[in-house]
Amino acid sequence: MRRPIGGVLFSLSPQPTPLQPAPARRLGPLMAYAGVLVWTVAASVGLLGQAAGGKRTPDIHYVPTPNRVVDAMLTIADVGPTDVVYDLGSGDGRIPIAAARRGARGVGIEVEPALVAQARRNAVRAGVADRVEFFEGDMFKSDPSPATVVTLYLLGSLNQRLRPKLLRELKPGTRIVSHRFPMGSWEPERSIEVGRADVVLWRVPSSPEPANPN
Ligand SMILES: C[S@@+](CC[C@H](N)C(=O)[O-])C[C@H]1O[C@@H](n2cnc3c(N)ncnc32)[C@H](O)[C@@H]1O
Repeated sequence: MRRPIGGVLFSLSPQPTPLQPAPARRLGPLMAYAGVLVWTVAASVGLLGQAAGGKRTPDIHYVPTPNRVVDAMLTIADVGPTDVVYDLGSGDGRIPIAAARRGARGVGIEVEPALVAQARRNAVRAGVADRVEFFEGDMFKSDPSPATVVTLYLLGSLNQRLRPKLLRELKPGTRIVSHRFPMGSWEPERSIEVGRADVVLWRVPSSPEPANPN
C-alpha cells in the first residue's frame, strides 16, 4: 500500500522547468519539501500499519506445483464446470487458472502482492480472467466457505493448523487436495503418486471433526 501512495506523491511533486512562470518556480521547492514531508508521514503510517499486522509475512515461500501435478490434483478431485476451486497460497495462480480451463471458477488467496499481480496477468494471458479471482490476504483470515474444492501446497504443519478452520467453514462434501503434505492423522480418501510427488484427497465429513483431531 505504501508503494502506490509514495509513487503518486512523487509523481505529483512539481519539477520546475525554465518554461514555468516565475511564481510557480518560487513555489516549486516549497511544494517539493511538502511532498517529501507528506510522503515521509505516509511511509511512517505504512510502517506502523505493518507493525500492527498490516503486512503479513508468508508462512512458507513460493515454490510452484509442477503442471502435471496440478493436473493430477484437479483430476483426483474430479474438478468440472460446477466447481469453485480455492487455492490457499496461490502463488502465480496456476491452480485456479487450470481449474478455470476445466470450466470451474477459480479463486486464489495469496499474501505476496507481486504474486497476486502476476497471477492476474497469467489469467488474462490464459483467457480465463472472467472465471478467476485473486485476493491479496492471509489464508488463515480468508473465508473459504464458497469452495467445493480447496487445494494446498504448503507444509504438514500449516495443513494441520488450517484443518480446524477448513472443517468448521467448508460445506460437508467439499474436497481438499494437498500436493505432498498430509493433514496430521486425518485418513485420506485417496492418494496417488505423480513422479516423486504425493497427491492426497480428503472430503469434509458431515460431522464437524473426525474422531481424532491430530
Ligand atoms: C509452496 S507455494 C504454492 C503456490 C501454489 N499454490 C502452487 O501450488 O503452485 C505457497 C504459497 O503460499 C503463499 N503464502 C504463504 N503464507 C501465506 C498466508 N498466510 N496466506 C496466503 N498465502 C500465503 C506463499 O507466498 C506462496 O506463494
